[in-house]
Amino acid sequence: MSQPTRFTLSQSDIPKQWYNLNADFPEPLPPPLHPGTKQPIPPEALLAIFPENLVQQEATRERWVEIPEEVRDVYALWRPTPLLRAVRLEKALQTPAHIYYKYEGGSPAGSHKVNTSVAQAYFNKVAGTKRLASETGAGQWGSSLALACQIFGLECNVYMVKVSYDHKPYRRMLMHTWGATVHASPSDQTEYGRKLLAEDPHNAGSLGIAISEAIEDTVKHPGTKYSLGSVLNHVCLHQTVIGEETLKQMVLAGEEPDVIFGCCGGGSNFAGLVFPYLRRKITEKKSYRIVGVEPSACPTLTKGELRYDFGDTAETTPLMMMYTLGHKFMPPSIHAGGLRYHGMSPMVSHALKLGLIEAEAYHQTNVFEAATLFARNEGIVPAPESAHAIAAVVKEALKAREEGKKRVLLFNLSGHGLLDLSAYETYLHGKLQDV
Ligand SMILES: Cc1ncc(COP(=O)(O)O)c(C=O)c1O
Repeated sequence: MSQPTRFTLSQSDIPKQWYNLNADFPEPLPPPLHPGTKQPIPPEALLAIFPENLVQQEATRERWVEIPEEVRDVYALWRPTPLLRAVRLEKALQTPAHIYYKYEGGSPAGSHKVNTSVAQAYFNKVAGTKRLASETGAGQWGSSLALACQIFGLECNVYMVKVSYDHKPYRRMLMHTWGATVHASPSDQTEYGRKLLAEDPHNAGSLGIAISEAIEDTVKHPGTKYSLGSVLNHVCLHQTVIGEETLKQMVLAGEEPDVIFGCCGGGSNFAGLVFPYLRRKITEKKSYRIVGVEPSACPTLTKGELRYDFGDTAETTPLMMMYTLGHKFMPPSIHAGGLRYHGMSPMVSHALKLGLIEAEAYHQTNVFEAATLFARNEGIVPAPESAHAIAAVVKEALKAREEGKKRVLLFNLSGHGLLDLSAYETYLHGKLQDV
């Protein structure tokens, strides 16, 4: 074999702690505000919907948070995940750049989302929660939560954005297989859903609406807590196992990344890979360029405003300081369902505001072109969400070729696209359009 291209760790290398970037930000994160009084809310106010142990993680400024043995045991089903060098893609692009990717698509649910669903289900279980309510777009998060609830013996009730419920049946089936109850949102299960259906029986739904339904479900059902798959501090925290493993794997590869990329929906897979690198950028003055990549159709980081906004459509969540397109924004129905969120993680937003990261946006035809090139050279069919990072990597690799400069590029391949093949078919038949 000419050169190693796959860098793996052993089960004993599964991180023992999550990393909290809130300990190292040069300026503290602006606090969440009460929607009525507009005053900072104390963490206890979140206890109506989250268990105390997760509320503590949401607010903590500790640099390291212990990963319980029970969570590491479940992580061992798919972690540590591999780091690969995409030598065939480099060759196809005739680039001097070295391209590395961390692959999270080998988890049972096919994406990074289980890194936090398992942790959230575990902490809810030990806090005495009996049932979790949540929302899902295309079903990546819902299926990850369904699996985690099944493992820890919790009921799981998921509100799935209606357009995906109708058009993306396979993740719905996956949720059913793992024992969850799934409602098309807006649904007749909540007052908010019934109100929207009365106004428009054909309402196609949105992530913001589904979040409102899941929160209403939580406060109305005893023994139920709410679970969110992205955006919040504790979710970004749980995802840092990705970057902590990658730091070790890049040492095995004998290189340091120059530019690091991740796609951004609510920001959690991006946070997972890049926050450990941001620690080094802040504390060791490393000069990595770090780029969040989003769809042009939902350009939160590149065109949104940095201001306090609600996380959901019905205005039930606390106000968070974040880049936002406005909580009433209805994103067009692009194939990367997981990137259709009006806001962005407050931590990722803060990193952008402080100039620690950059952001780029790509149209979906460009994204599918890059995804197909990747699949044809590296084999893995990427999730349309993850393929946004690939589009940015391809652009950077071509720039390296033009300039004749070697650069080390690293990205997070956050999921596989084997349940998104109809989107690929649309692209391959020349029917995909930019919106
Ligand atoms: C494969 C994949 N990548 C990325 C995302 C975007 O979410 P986040 O920004 O929280 O990583 C999703 C969301 O569903 C996803 O399924």
